[in-house]
Amino acid sequence: MKFNSVVLLSLTSPCLGKIAAAKPQMGWNSWNTFKANINESIIKPTAETLVSSGLAKAGYEYLILDEGWQALTRDGNGRQQANATKFPSGIPALADYVHKLGLKIGIYSDAGIYDCDFFPGSWGNEELDADTYASWDIDYLKYDNCGGFQAGTQSPGERFSIMGNALKNTGRDILYSLCQWGNQFPWFWADQLSDSYRMSGDITSSFAKDNSGVCKTAYCLNTGYAGVSVLTMIRKMRELSGFQSPGSWADMDMLEIGTGTMTEYEEQTHFSFWAALKSPLIIGADITKISNTSLGILLNKEIIAINQDDAGVAVTYLPALSSEGSIQIWAGPLSAGSFGHVVLALNEGGNATSITIPWSGIPELQNSTRASYKVRDVWAAKDLGTIQTGITLLNVSSHQTKVLIVSRA
Ligand code: GAL
Repeated sequence: MKFNSVVLLSLTSPCLGKIAAAKPQMGWNSWNTFKANINESIIKPTAETLVSSGLAKAGYEYLILDEGWQALTRDGNGRQQANATKFPSGIPALADYVHKLGLKIGIYSDAGIYDCDFFPGSWGNEELDADTYASWDIDYLKYDNCGGFQAGTQSPGERFSIMGNALKNTGRDILYSLCQWGNQFPWFWADQLSDSYRMSGDITSSFAKDNSGVCKTAYCLNTGYAGVSVLTMIRKMRELSGFQSPGSWADMDMLEIGTGTMTEYEEQTHFSFWAALKSPLIIGADITKISNTSLGILLNKEIIAINQDDAGVAVTYLPALSSEGSIQIWAGPLSAGSFGHVVLALNEGGNATSITIPWSGIPELQNSTRASYKVRDVWAAKDLGTIQTGITLLNVSSHQTKVLIVSRA
């Protein structure tokens, strides 16, 4: 829900306690690992693992059922219903189970007549479906765009706002996460009706290799199932990072950390950029089988704090300090309280290299009279002391990202 409208609602309705999505949402989603093959025996242990692994405590609070929870037809009253074989206890009982663990539960539907695998979408039934989700105590809706085109003349903006209003009218605080792959450039309008919006077609579990035909920039569009690599998703954010703001997050799609295709440095890079670009952090791996290394990356408190920083300002690409295809430098301010700036230095090339960052090259520091700053290397968990003029990072490995917090000495 839109930030302002929730503030207004909370004035008249004290039970709507939190401001929705003032920070990028964090959680787990079933799609990347399980596709539509989800059931209670997968979801319940996942919920338990979110708690036992420390992920819930670190902020990953939403457990989101993607496509595959639904039956192929609506019930006798026209309501969406769960697949009774896969979810024999039903969604309300599952929601109760998830809530008792201290988590929140998300569900998936679609702004078309059908969703991507021909389960019933919500087009034409938005109010009924929103009321159903609210009556099941659902806390989050991921709303997709397949089969939307069969809805005829209505634009995505219209179709997505009808569900946004239906959710608001339920009176329940349901986070509204748009998934229409960046179509119609939602960074210009989705703030009016949702908490977050996907800015691209689907991610694939690969650091650098895109599926064929994948677009490289934000304004060149792919639909769902696109197969966008981590590096290309980061590339697309060059045009979009300036749009990030509390209550309206561009969603870079689910994290592929722990899905077994990336090195430790590549997974660190993936996490650093999703965090500093203020994307929602939604885990896509099977957390019941994840390696300790990948889990450690997802649990890194300092990187999470960058994502959840009060200011909600994303880092910006700095072309003057970068070199296409080999070095990328991105930087941005943290909230006033921390007096800090976050700087990301990625070695995109194949060999280890040194990277030099002059303080004068960072926009917010350019006009400062200070010559020296305190520097912390976040992944090394090490204070590097007070450094004058700028820093040279020695021996940055291939595909590694150094994350620095640069603050007043
Ligand atoms: C795509 C969406 C994916 C997943 C999938 C389900 O449109 O981008 O994240 O939800 O549909 O079929």
